Amino acid sequence: MLTANELIQKVNTHVENLRLDRKPQGLYDPVRYVLTPGGKRIRPVLMLMAYNIFRDDVDRILDPAAGIEVYHNYTLLHDDVMDHADMRRGKPTVHKVWNENVAILSGDAMFVLAYQLIGHCPQEVARQVLDLFNITSLEICEGQQLDMEFEDRRNVSPKEYLEMIRLKTSVLLAASLKMGAIMAGANAQQADGLYNFGMNLGVAFQLQDDLLDVYGDPAVFGKNIGGDILCNKKTYLLIKALEKANARQLASLNDWLDRTDYDPQAKVKAVTDLYNEIGVKQLGEDQVALYTQRAVASLDAVDIPDCKKHELRGMMSMLMNRKS
Ligand code: IPE
Ligand code: IPE
Ligand code: MG
Ligand code: MG
Ligand code: MG
Repeated sequence: MLTANELIQKVNTHVENLRLDRKPQGLYDPVRYVLTPGGKRIRPVLMLMAYNIFRDDVDRILDPAAGIEVYHNYTLLHDDVMDHADMRRGKPTVHKVWNENVAILSGDAMFVLAYQLIGHCPQEVARQVLDLFNITSLEICEGQQLDMEFEDRRNVSPKEYLEMIRLKTSVLLAASLKMGAIMAGANAQQADGLYNFGMNLGVAFQLQDDLLDVYGDPAVFGKNIGGDILCNKKTYLLIKALEKANARQLASLNDWLDRTDYDPQAKVKAVTDLYNEIGVKQLGEDQVALYTQRAVASLDAVDIPDCKKHELRGMMSMLMNRKS
């Protein structure tokens, strides 16, 4: 079996070699800009790892693996417009370098490119792979819509939050694994077991992303710290802070959530100070640990020889210790 690093190399080479030289250049320049190495390439690597559990010829699915990465990058392109995010992977976002219309249209082109690449999967399973990819794409839109709707609400419950991140983030990790398994000819139980593992991993991953958004190291995180706070995103941290705050803390939190005119740095600092006072960082970390345990247990439960799970386990611990 290939290691995570060997698989990342393969994905990066394949993505770099994608033919993106059609015209007009103005449509494809931003596509090349976002696909330049820099991301962790988690989703294609999970797909290749799942495939590699059952078969050795991973090169056979490099197009679909690149497709899932192009798809992920397309969601980020549009997500950064929706989240008013200026930085990603240490570089200004597409709508900052170009403009929002360019981000929309180059994103649309990437969505089509992703479908084209995923359509190059082994033909005997194409229907199954595309059905799964289609439902996953819809779920991600649903999750992103909920994420935006929650910005304007104060009473989002942890349960609603978990459902939202399941949709916006987990299903893509889960589907990447399941698509890899399907393309390798795994049985339904194995494919669903890997999907289930991806769901728990994805929830832990997004909880971790929300923590890094507040507590990450600006030098390595690559995104602006406090972006979620500025958008009033209902992260686990904010939901728990609203729940646990005393009367004074709650008044202050609500005041910051209500303000329309403020100094961004002052808001990030004030809300972070409230998080620290209320003690929600630990609650977030506990929740990451809980879903990481669930991910471990769900991987243990998959009907595959234990020695074949080594790379996935390594990937899981790499992700849970990540700084970016
Ligand atoms: C960012 O995903 C979006 C989330 C689902 C949190 P990644 O953290 O995988 O982003 P890159 O591709 O490595 O930059
Ligand atoms: C992203 O969630 C989920 C998708 C892009 C579908 P976030 O908005 O938290 O991702 P980042 O933090 O911008 O990478
Ligand atoms: Mg975002
Ligand atoms: Mg977002
Ligand atoms: Mg985030």
